[in-house]
Amino acid sequence: PQITVVDQAGAERGVEAPLGRTLMEVIRDNGFDELLALCGGCCSCATCHVHIAPDFMDKIPAMSEDENDLLDSSDHRNEYSRLSCQVPVTDALEGLKVTIAQED
Ligand code: FES
Repeated sequence: PQITVVDQAGAERGVEAPLGRTLMEVIRDNGFDELLALCGGCCSCATCHVHIAPDFMDKIPAMSEDENDLLDSSDHRNEYSRLSCQVPVTDALEGLKVTIAQED
């Protein structure tokens, strides 16, 4: 699917998201270095924090307790927050807009 990534400065760029990857991998693979993803996708660092477009929140799997706890450590958490390494790319994400959260 085709998705749009919004960087921390608000610039938007359309990218192709291959099925079977995670949103974190897609964002990193497209050169958005501000998404640190320090733990490499193990759900233990919270540096892959993104905001999902509101109308897509019900199209992605519910978050685990671990993800929820990690997001609590961010000052920039809101109701659209997810850890991008925990969001798999599916066809349902066609047209998604995902915004990289500000750094804590
Ligand atoms: Fe570390 Fe997502 S990359 S929690």
